[in-house]
Amino acid sequence: MRKQVKNNVSWVGKVDWELEKFHGEEYSTHKGSTYNSYLIEEEKTVLIDTVWLPFGEEFVENLAKEIDLNKIDYIIANHGEIDHSGGLPALMKHIPNTPIYCTANAVKSLKGQFHKDWNFKTVKTGDSLDIGNGKSLVFVEMAMLHWPDSMAVYLTEDNILFSNDAFGQHYATENLFNDLVDQCELFEESIKYYANILTPFSAILRKKLDEVIALNLPIDIIATSHGVIWRDNPMQIIEKYSQWANDYQENQITILYDTMWNGTKLLAEKIAEGISSVDSEVVVKLYNIAKNDINDMITQVFKSKTVAIGSPTIGNNILHTTAALIHMMKILKFKNKKAAAFGCYGWSGESVKILNERMKDAGFEVSTEGYRSLWKPTIDAEKEAIEYGKKIASL
Ligand code: FEO
Repeated sequence: MRKQVKNNVSWVGKVDWELEKFHGEEYSTHKGSTYNSYLIEEEKTVLIDTVWLPFGEEFVENLAKEIDLNKIDYIIANHGEIDHSGGLPALMKHIPNTPIYCTANAVKSLKGQFHKDWNFKTVKTGDSLDIGNGKSLVFVEMAMLHWPDSMAVYLTEDNILFSNDAFGQHYATENLFNDLVDQCELFEESIKYYANILTPFSAILRKKLDEVIALNLPIDIIATSHGVIWRDNPMQIIEKYSQWANDYQENQITILYDTMWNGTKLLAEKIAEGISSVDSEVVVKLYNIAKNDINDMITQVFKSKTVAIGSPTIGNNILHTTAALIHMMKILKFKNKKAAAFGCYGWSGESVKILNERMKDAGFEVSTEGYRSLWKPTIDAEKEAIEYGKKIASL
């Protein structure tokens, strides 16, 4: 069922309340998601994006209840990833010759995924499409936000920026607009989305934000492709992105550890005690890596100035959970963050050295040798861990 966004612009997407994981198993979506598709009905009828592939047939059936599909003059594919283009195969069976406006890279991704030679019309930044009634669509390439094929499109007169992935959140809601949902949930899902998806592209994003601001376009609404539409002070999410894209950190130290017989866990708790004993204001958070959601921990890393990471030694190495988390931190290319390592051992004791190497390789600044403790920490070892915590507080 369609929902009005503004004037002749409607939302015709899909709310996916059941989604638990996105990008395969890579991203946890505790609050589901939405795939936002938009219909513009001026002298020309325009469809912007579709929905995720499994909902493609349902999407087309619903759309056909709203309009005669043959009336669609233009399709805009802002991004080829199948959470937005997945409705195209079902739709194009009905209207195979309708032009699809997209970037040159999107032609590659759409052809690569669907193996169809649809009527593609490639566009670049600044190109525009007249849709009648004095309105036009202006295209803005958004390469790497989130794929090389991404773009946004701006609707003049109504002043709506259809931003696709940028400014989105995995957040299922029937309420459509940012002012109608729980603000804490909205902020948490927005920062998690940025931390887990957009962090590697922060430098590109900084330039793109400057470019968009320099265009001096009035923006009344930012209509994303996931989650809510920003109609109440849409600049608030642009301002947040400006902060997040600038090597963001809060006054937070996060301790991430895995443990076999609770020795490394004890060190983690003593390190936390040490940090808090010398700095009562810094936010200290502890997570057992094996027991917490990896994307939620990544969000905490994103907020942190320093990460303390712990693993006991196993097989002359570190626990696989810890290795996986460091791998994810590496691919997200965090900047301006410090790291410190710790862990228990019984025999060879390589874990702390390996943690240091891997955290350096992941782009973190490592300036201490770390702290390791033989067997179950003694009272003296607990005191040493507290001292190490004090040292971490002052990194
Ligand atoms: Fe929501 Fe990059 O797709």
